[in-house]
Amino acid sequence: MKVKFVSKLSKMSDAIFIILSKKSSLKNLGLKDEFIKEILRSIDNKGFKFNLNEILEINNFSDKKLKSIFVYGLGNKLNDVSFLDYEKIGGRITELTKSKNQISVLIDKDVSNEEFLMRLGYGSILGSYLFNKYKTKNLRKSELSLIEVITNNSLKINRNFNRYKCIAEGVFFARDLVNEPSNILYPKEYANRIKKLKKYGLKIEVFGETKMKALKMDSLLGVGQGSQRESQLVLMHWNGNKAKKTKPLCFVGKGVCFDSGGISIKPSNKMEEMIGDMGGSAAVVGTMLSLAKRKAKVNAIGVVGLVENMPDGKAQKPGDIVKSMSGQTIEIQNTDAEGRLVLADALWYAQKRFKPELMIDLATLTGAMVVSLGSLIAGLFSNNDKLSKNLINAGEDSGDLVWRFPLNDSYDKLINSRFADMKNIGMGGAGSITAAQFLQRFVNRVPWAHLDIAGTATGMPKSSTNTSWATGFGVHLLDTFVKKFYEK
Ligand code: BES
Ligand code: MN
Ligand code: ZN
Repeated sequence: MKVKFVSKLSKMSDAIFIILSKKSSLKNLGLKDEFIKEILRSIDNKGFKFNLNEILEINNFSDKKLKSIFVYGLGNKLNDVSFLDYEKIGGRITELTKSKNQISVLIDKDVSNEEFLMRLGYGSILGSYLFNKYKTKNLRKSELSLIEVITNNSLKINRNFNRYKCIAEGVFFARDLVNEPSNILYPKEYANRIKKLKKYGLKIEVFGETKMKALKMDSLLGVGQGSQRESQLVLMHWNGNKAKKTKPLCFVGKGVCFDSGGISIKPSNKMEEMIGDMGGSAAVVGTMLSLAKRKAKVNAIGVVGLVENMPDGKAQKPGDIVKSMSGQTIEIQNTDAEGRLVLADALWYAQKRFKPELMIDLATLTGAMVVSLGSLIAGLFSNNDKLSKNLINAGEDSGDLVWRFPLNDSYDKLINSRFADMKNIGMGGAGSITAAQFLQRFVNRVPWAHLDIAGTATGMPKSSTNTSWATGFGVHLLDTFVKKFYEK
């Protein structure tokens, strides 16, 4: 499905979507007088009030070519309509015109902010996402192939809209990865899919177990030890700022392709949802794809640790002690607290090799996160106020919201161990914070933020723009963070 900004209403449209506030008129939108008459008659008949999100569908036009007209209310005060509302409206357009092929959108002339128009376009693209790959019947289908939004500065908007198209592609790529089952998407297959992104100018490196063993990544390797599938570490380089030799931004993701819990096995109820335990890594890959596709003027590196956490005769056991790449030892008290073990080595490696400007990791790390913030907002943990402020800001802009949680020594103490430098679970509650404290032990002075997206990577409330189980949470957030604070 494509969205284009154009200057004229096309004769090819099967439907026209008219978006208007109470105060505006149907005139000067470029509609024929006879249409305006028919529309006004229906508005009267149906008692349509132009309330925000109120919709009127009019069929049976005298003009047989035009199948229907939708009138969409923007309410009383245009100032109350946010860019996130426009995204949802865009999504509604896609939803309501599934059976049409090509449609046109006419929008209130008082909506002059081009960001609003782009958000509407972005929302309609998001709403077109489908994951039909494994359906052989009863497919969810859409015939819609083109939405044309009429505006008088179409040239400029189309140019700027390219960024949103790229973000949407990043979001779709992330959603596809998360929706894939783990018999298909195991670490090597995942690495292969990332390798294919070379064609967009990303440089890709893949480490297998031999290489990771040589690097002494025993914390990550211990997690994959019980799996038939080989663990992988994948690095993606985007070098978009060739002018300056700046330190890169580093994004690190948890990629547990399936989390059974390992020997500390999970209950069977809802265990199938653990195919999505690589949501953090998917957000990193999606972001790198978006940055590359839109040729962002930034140097960024994505690092994802890909493993499968399984019970087996060879699997890691509670009580085992492993030595991480950092040299710090970890007593495994619960093999289900595996994400932090993967990230410990990935973070350490990233910081040691790249000396980044900052590091942001994303992970479906703790069930406790779902308890505290549900599926609406992600948890933010950071050693740096400025970085936190910027992420919160990018969250509000993108709609991928984050909320900051505390980190401090008293929480850090909860993961001290009897025999090793630390243990991999805390006690006395605050499970999301002790998990973040664990990660912080693998971060030196570099500004770092951890986003716990256990609740938001999947299962956010369905909406016109969030149509599948996987959300793609984090891609729009990080792209916005880069664009606002690091692209000059
Ligand atoms: N992948 C899970 C966290 C999770 C739970 C993500 C629900 C999405 C939805 C993680 O590896 C895990 O199992 N965490 C444990 C940690 C505990 C053993 C300290 C948890 O949250 O129960
Ligand atoms: Mn787990
Ligand atoms: Zn997990």
